[in-house]
Amino acid sequence: TSTADSHRHESAIKHVTGRAAYIDDLPAPADALHIALGFSPVAHGRLTRLDLEAVKRAPGVVDVISVVDIPGHTDIGPVFPGDPLFADDEISYAGQTLFAVAATSHKAARLAVRAAVVEIDEQPASLDPLKAAERGEVVRPTHVQQRGDWQQALSKAEHVLEGEQFVGGQEHFYLEGQACLVTPSEDEGVVVYTSNQHPSETQKLVSEVLAVPFHAVTVETRRMGGGFGGKETQASPWACIAALIARRTGRAARLRLPRAEDTRATGKRHPFYNRYRLGFDAEGVLAGGEITVIGDCGYSPDLSEAIVDRAMFHADNAYSLGAARVTGHRARTHTASNTAFRGFGGPQGMMIIEAAMDDIARHLGEDPLSVRKRNFYRAGRDVTHYGQQVDQYPLLSEIVERLELSSDYWTRREAIRAHNAASPVVKKGLALTPVKFGISFTARHLNQAGALLHVYTDGSVMINHGGTEMGQGLHTKICQVAARELGLDMARVRITATRTDKVPNTSPTAASSGADLNGMAARDAASQLRERLFDFAAEHYQLDREGMRLAGGELLAGHGESSRRIAWGELVQAAYLSRISLSANGFYSTPLIHYDRDTGSGRPFYYFAYGAAVAEVSLDTLSGEYRVERVDILHDVGDSLNPAIDTGQVEGGFIQAMGWLTSEELKWDARGRLLSDGPATYKIPTYGDLPPAFNVELLQGHPNSQASIYRSKAVGEPPFMLGISVWSALRDALSSLSDYRQSPRLDTPATPERVLMAAQALRRSV
Ligand code: MTE
Ligand code: MOS
Repeated sequence: TSTADSHRHESAIKHVTGRAAYIDDLPAPADALHIALGFSPVAHGRLTRLDLEAVKRAPGVVDVISVVDIPGHTDIGPVFPGDPLFADDEISYAGQTLFAVAATSHKAARLAVRAAVVEIDEQPASLDPLKAAERGEVVRPTHVQQRGDWQQALSKAEHVLEGEQFVGGQEHFYLEGQACLVTPSEDEGVVVYTSNQHPSETQKLVSEVLAVPFHAVTVETRRMGGGFGGKETQASPWACIAALIARRTGRAARLRLPRAEDTRATGKRHPFYNRYRLGFDAEGVLAGGEITVIGDCGYSPDLSEAIVDRAMFHADNAYSLGAARVTGHRARTHTASNTAFRGFGGPQGMMIIEAAMDDIARHLGEDPLSVRKRNFYRAGRDVTHYGQQVDQYPLLSEIVERLELSSDYWTRREAIRAHNAASPVVKKGLALTPVKFGISFTARHLNQAGALLHVYTDGSVMINHGGTEMGQGLHTKICQVAARELGLDMARVRITATRTDKVPNTSPTAASSGADLNGMAARDAASQLRERLFDFAAEHYQLDREGMRLAGGELLAGHGESSRRIAWGELVQAAYLSRISLSANGFYSTPLIHYDRDTGSGRPFYYFAYGAAVAEVSLDTLSGEYRVERVDILHDVGDSLNPAIDTGQVEGGFIQAMGWLTSEELKWDARGRLLSDGPATYKIPTYGDLPPAFNVELLQGHPNSQASIYRSKAVGEPPFMLGISVWSALRDALSSLSDYRQSPRLDTPATPERVLMAAQALRRSV
């Protein structure tokens, strides 16, 4: 790692000067149509009448479509069926799309929507995931992971403790909402410009909806104003609708969801109900037990099979569970279909074991950090409940030991105890929580990537790959890879938009593996081209091929007297004139990984990323108001590809999780209508919520033990879960009201109201 690698984001200047184009900034033909959508105001029922005659006659309206107008597939479920593009007769959530209007202006389209006659026979909405799971109302079957005799572990354990929690969902709140622009192409297809993490899937779905072959549809994504998982599957419906309009009218079509509609129509992070029953010894070391997680999936499967699996894979976090059974249910409720969100279920799974660590410590009268450390994966206890051997687990202890020192944990612990003993109202809390996060898509086939590299005759380089840019700096890292392999300055290398006609059959940019997968594919392409140029130079210039290098914009060959330097531009020109191809295709697939869902075991992850955070809070136990005073983070990214970008990912992930667990509250009314549909009622953290002391460091000197791209580690999601330290610190502060004897239940988001109620409950009980 060196600061020399800290190239600024390839679009940094454009971002801050407003010149980075997002979908709505793209110029469209003068006759482009604007689309507005009609949504169900009701969460559950039967659509008994949909009369769109008045909509069609409204001023400026050019086309109106509903389910009957789809020539191809009407269901666009990404993995399993269940997501109708337009509701047919069954209404499954408030915000479900009923019809679309295309008009000459956005305003005309929106006004026309109001002329629709919609009649729905409303039925009660099912909104409680726990009750739904108990009734067997699930979107996918239950899955179990099990290792050892968990029942015996419980019956023989010195201590057994149980607990439960409700973990709230989270709105993605990407700055750029769902948006696309679709133009009809010369043949039967379309070109789709979309803010989208998964262009290849949108290509497939648009083709199927239009009933045309995949090669008739091209999907392009230059950048997103944030995705966070919310544009992995849920960017597709809008593209499909706009594509239908574009094909039917022969005109370009724009679709951009206003914030409130976006928030109601799209799925969120899954809320979870979790419980544990765990046995442990006098030291708090787990013997085993059972953990149950119930994901609230909303109305359809979407990605919920894999998301609840990931919650299960992370129900151990950094700790060996012993002999354990982990069960995951996928509850069906009448809300939008919940979807990917940074961590993909992992954070929700980790919450239950972090709650258990705190509870066990208080039960034994120990500091929670001591109990956490004793439970870390270590020699003899290094296999997960799904049978994967944990590699690099010594990093957990190393990170935590360093952080204990740099954050002064034990001194501050004493000071906080003294403060709390003397301060009846304002209580302080401190917590150190670790993260171990598995890297790879758990659907094995997605762990592949392609890249396309062109060198033009002026020596400039174009690299394209299957990944998309959502602000996380992926394109910058890929440019760095190409520049490094070809010994060029970054200025020589450019990435343009991700397009399905450049690199085909791509995976979503998700699971934090954008740089791991596409970086390796780009490296493959660049090294093929380099080796080809070496072959050429050896012959053309009569040079010794052995020991040739590309560095500093030159080809270097030979030693001493006989050494030769050939400028990159000259080399490329000569190769072109000698009819050598200056283009290469790269490919990569992750080795070693496998998971057998029938037995619930395997090695789903290529490696693990580690980190830990210490958070200190102070809270007013009479009002519930609190502040995060200080945060210290040490996080493992192996040999960082770009320390500046990685540090930004750690900071951003932490703050986003802090919002999830504290202020971001999703509220539905009793009929299943989302009330918190905009910034006035849904509170994401702002600049003012930054902890006044926020010390973020990347762990140095520990390359990835697996052969990842330059021994780096994925960084997009793992740091998110460091935010759990804030929630744990709030519980710690509350627990002081019982002289640390009780471990209060604190569901999330831990808003001031919930914190106040927990404080009052504790006061009553002691
Ligand atoms: N960072 C920014 N700025 N914007 C985003 O939308 N998405 C996150 C993370 N960091 C996101 C982000 C999520 S959910 C993932 S999976 C990764 O970035 C995806 O990118 P990567 O695989 O290139 O890390
Ligand atoms: Mo990220 S939730 O895997 O898009």
